[in-house]
Amino acid sequence: MSLASLYIKNVRNLAETHIEPAPCLNIIHGVNASGKTSLLEAIYLLGRARSFRSSHIQNVISKGADGFTVVGQVNISAEQRIPLGIEYMAEKMRMRAAGQTLERTSDLVTHLPLLLINPDSHKILTLGPRQRRRFMDWGVFHVEHAFMPVWARYCRALKQRNASLRCSGRSMPEDVWSMELQESASRIDSLRREYLRDYLPLFVGFVEKLLPLEGVSLRYLRGWAQDAEYREVLARSLEKDRSLGYTSRGPHRADVMIEVAGKPAQEYTSGGQQKLLICAMYLAQAALLKVRAQRQCIILVDDLPAELDTQHRRKLIDLLCELDAQIMVTTTDRELIHVPEIAGRKMFHVEHGVVTERTF
Ligand SMILES: Nc1ncnc2c1ncn2[C@@H]1O[C@H](COP(=O)(O)OP(=O)(O)OP(=O)(O)O)[C@@H](O)[C@H]1O
Ligand SMILES: [Mg+2]
Repeated sequence: MSLASLYIKNVRNLAETHIEPAPCLNIIHGVNASGKTSLLEAIYLLGRARSFRSSHIQNVISKGADGFTVVGQVNISAEQRIPLGIEYMAEKMRMRAAGQTLERTSDLVTHLPLLLINPDSHKILTLGPRQRRRFMDWGVFHVEHAFMPVWARYCRALKQRNASLRCSGRSMPEDVWSMELQESASRIDSLRREYLRDYLPLFVGFVEKLLPLEGVSLRYLRGWAQDAEYREVLARSLEKDRSLGYTSRGPHRADVMIEVAGKPAQEYTSGGQQKLLICAMYLAQAALLKVRAQRQCIILVDDLPAELDTQHRRKLIDLLCELDAQIMVTTTDRELIHVPEIAGRKMFHVEHGVVTERTF
């Protein structure tokens, strides 16, 4: 997938913008507060129906406007292009693809697989497992169609069990949902394992290319003991779960940790190395999506030069360009990015919310 064109209305300081991005590399430059991150945010809204910097979607709307719109023409394949659109107006989000209204965000996400690397990305190493689970499940979701329905089944059964745990006085016979939970949990676990099995060598390969760091590995924790059946774990933790009021074990508590020589990566890495590790994580996801699902994704890199020296900036941009993906990179200073002489590249300049194409 790639964006052939993009129309943005009333996103932050972007009043009205229309661009036609290049299929491979797009460099977006401009001074501080010109609107570069807002441009990436608009693309992210189109692919995820949420912002990466505001949990309140209203904050995205340009001051004084009553809603925002983002519409893209998406290349689904060499022969097929569809319009994809998102609009937020009167506190309602509307999503459309190929002329049809979409009911679920997952339908939108399927149409535009996109990854974001920004100065906050290192938090994936240090924050709780939720972000890392999201990261892993993004990959599983896009390469394995079976994942979404089984995850929905699991969440439904989990919700019922949690509601019942909170109903004091009502006895819960040996767990009425344990069969459903057991089946869906095992399936989720095996889909995640399969994904990570293919993912690990790609990730290690990108780490080797991007930075000299020995002994990098991934540790997957499935959310309950490795040597136990999930049904037994549920039965054993029933009393504890009752007092907590929720289910304490299961795939909803899984984690995937990045380690260096068996220790958490953030303990042994500099700021620049962390950024490069994160880039390796995302590059490997994009590469695996291509191999397993023959799908191209869009990679948004906000402030690529931050934290990186000249040599690593160059390596990173070269590796990004070698991927079969559409890349959108922002920088305050155009000179900080060495732009490879490849076909399918464009440069855009942003000034006070106005985006214009520039020649190299
Ligand atoms: N809802 C909004 N309406 C209008 N303008 C907004 C809104 N939210 C933020 N802004 C402004 O939009 C401008 C562009 O912000 P943005 O973060 O896109 O800049 P940037 O080019 O990425 O800057 P930097 O290089 O500092 O990261 C800023 O001046 C910001 O204050
Ligand atoms: Mg910015």
